[in-house]
Amino acid sequence: MSEKATITLDGQTYEFPIVEGTEGEKAIDISSLRAETGYITLDFGYKNTGATTSSITFLDGEAGILHYRGYPIEQLAEQASFLEVAYLLLNGELPNAKQLQEFEGNIRYHSLVHEDMKRFFEFYPSNAHPMGILAAMVNSFSTFYPKSQDPNRSIKDVERTIFRLIAKMPTLAAISYKNNLGHPYMYPNNRLGYVENFIHMMFGLPTEDYEVDPVVADALNKLLILHADHEQNCSASTVRIVGSSQANLYSSISAGIAALWGPLHGGANQEVIEMLEAIRNDGSDLEKWVNKAKDKNDPFRLFGFGHRVYKNFDPRARIIKKSCDDILKKMGINDPVLDIAKQLEEIALRDDYFIERKLYPNVDFYSGIIYRAIGIPTRMFTVMFALGRLPGWIAQWKEMVENKEPIGRPRQIYTGATKRDYVPVKDRK
Ligand code: ACO
Repeated sequence: MSEKATITLDGQTYEFPIVEGTEGEKAIDISSLRAETGYITLDFGYKNTGATTSSITFLDGEAGILHYRGYPIEQLAEQASFLEVAYLLLNGELPNAKQLQEFEGNIRYHSLVHEDMKRFFEFYPSNAHPMGILAAMVNSFSTFYPKSQDPNRSIKDVERTIFRLIAKMPTLAAISYKNNLGHPYMYPNNRLGYVENFIHMMFGLPTEDYEVDPVVADALNKLLILHADHEQNCSASTVRIVGSSQANLYSSISAGIAALWGPLHGGANQEVIEMLEAIRNDGSDLEKWVNKAKDKNDPFRLFGFGHRVYKNFDPRARIIKKSCDDILKKMGINDPVLDIAKQLEEIALRDDYFIERKLYPNVDFYSGIIYRAIGIPTRMFTVMFALGRLPGWIAQWKEMVENKEPIGRPRQIYTGATKRDYVPVKDRK
């Protein structure tokens, strides 16, 4: 592109190239800014900063558009399987039948978790949060598979690590749930599909036959696809920045899990249900809670509302809201919390505070209601998000490595004390 941005500093004008993406997004490439001018840019929370170019996910927050590798999220959620989408994110193209079969076979092959790892679970408090366990366990994989720690590992080793991660995460998640219940762990059943196998490990018991309900499997498949990637969000950026130091992939993903856990990010799905239940238990006075969220002296926020990039609507929330109705109907469940959620959305969307700030329901607003309907406990909601986001994190890491991106290292403007001399303790006032 021949267009340039000019910046005038201290009376001198500098030119910087404009970079344009395939969907017309534009950026000023300021890579040489500091070297040329001595200035840096300052952007708290990276609200205007592009940290990379990426060909994985496109989203337009104003228009409510989300594509994985060019495919609209609506089509993928409706028609694809989660492993197909994982393959797409990782490899850039949808798999043909043979490629998909091979990919599924590789995942199946690695679904067991090392028996020694089960012993770790004995030492967690019974009420340990499953996200804390998941982050620790995924990091522990690097100690079981030391080859993964070598930054110059072969492509085959990297592939194996990717298969292991995708294969073992559901097994770990299910073990942590069973551990919490005090129930025996269920081994994976490799005759089942990926999503069905997870449901089997979560809800099956060795004492009885367990049939996976296809309605539940469909619902979960859709939710996992909707969460599978979301370009440079907090956890994906964390994975990329940790990986940029050539830390191993397991540890990079573990860091992503920790970032996701926060209530302003993936942890919001647990907060939403707890909030909706609190509203119900408080007599369903919705205006009162909306006013609390608007009150700047009250730290309460309407969880599941607002998004850094979506300023019109979150397309994932639209799909989930509709699925929520369908699934509850199919399962014959009448959840009063769904009515509260819908009324809360209606009130907030009519309110000037939310209109002015462009705050709309995000992906987490309705997902918890589906998780609840299929029997996933509230504290496991963010684990479900992590299972879905895993292929996206890995694709982001892989792209960063393949692009040979430099170590991530932002700068700062120092605002502390200027140089002063040390005073020995005895002379200090
Ligand atoms: N309830 C009430 N007010 C809100 C909310 C909310 N949920 N979200 C934003 N606001 C207000 C802020 O107080 C701020 O008001 P001000 O301009 O008067 O100070 C304004 O809207 C802008 O909000 P910011 O926090 O500056 O926006 P930012 O882009 O930094 O944050 C975020 C986005 C973190 C998602 C925010 O909207 C939020 O906290 N939402 C609730 C938590 C949540 O649902 N997180 C999940 C996001 S989706 C995901 O990560 C998977």
